[in-house]
Amino acid sequence: MASDTPDAGPVSSTLSIPACSEFPRHIAIVMDGNGRWARKRMLPRVAGHRRGLETVRRLVRQCLERGIPNLTLFAFSSENWRRPADEVSFLMKLLLRALHTEVLRLHANNIRLRVIGDISRFEPTLQQAITQAATLTAGNTALTLSIAANYGGRWDILQAVKRMQAANPALRDDFTEDDLTPYLSLGDLPEPDLFIRTGGEQRVSNFLLWQLAYAEYYFTDCLWPDFDEVAFDAALLSFRQRERRFGRTSEQLVPQRAAI
Ligand code: IPE
Ligand code: IPE
Ligand code: MG
Repeated sequence: MASDTPDAGPVSSTLSIPACSEFPRHIAIVMDGNGRWARKRMLPRVAGHRRGLETVRRLVRQCLERGIPNLTLFAFSSENWRRPADEVSFLMKLLLRALHTEVLRLHANNIRLRVIGDISRFEPTLQQAITQAATLTAGNTALTLSIAANYGGRWDILQAVKRMQAANPALRDDFTEDDLTPYLSLGDLPEPDLFIRTGGEQRVSNFLLWQLAYAEYYFTDCLWPDFDEVAFDAALLSFRQRERRFGRTSEQLVPQRAAI
């Protein structure tokens, strides 16, 4: 039964109305435009990826400063294997290097780091670095930083169904959203309130298909390496101006607004 009472926990936005506040509790970002940033400067595409990592570093700090507790970044999609082999290999090395150089700093800042996606396709050294980083930072509480790597939204839904059925063979086809949610990537977090895509494209590209059901979408032409604090604050301002109705009418929200 759908409830009308706002809930603070990681509940499904289609089953009960999530708690809403001025700042998103969870931001999910498609970091797009690295290649075009580099091309504009007559640089190789990989130079854009390198600069993109600097944006990530700055953004993590900006989230900490603003008290945003969950940040999920799309780093490599299940479709990005279709890119030229040398670019794929550079991206894998960049991810491994970033894990090595950043993890201690993230840990010192009380940040929990994890990777979502099918990591079984990665080199063993990368898989190990991912697992070690997650283990080291598992108890941290200031910010949960989830990096989506070899991630696809359809893969996520399928793996969740498979794992749920393996764990509960009795469920068969008689299961609910609540049964499935814990098996989805990010199932332990509130659903993203704000989805940002840089780089000018207005598509989801197989990112968090299930989890973005009621996110507010924000698209900007800004290329990812240029996505600075001013650009981030513009996205947050846009979010604050949205009316999140979750199926209700605007009039139904008026008493809530008066109570604030
Ligand atoms: C996003 O930038 C980063 C990854 C997909 C890894 P792109 O590499 O897609 O940059 P554009 O879209 O070509 O500019
Ligand atoms: C989406 O960006 C994936 C990441 C940002 C990692 P792409 O640049 O690969 O998306 P499409 O293929 O243009 O939609
Ligand atoms: Mg792109």
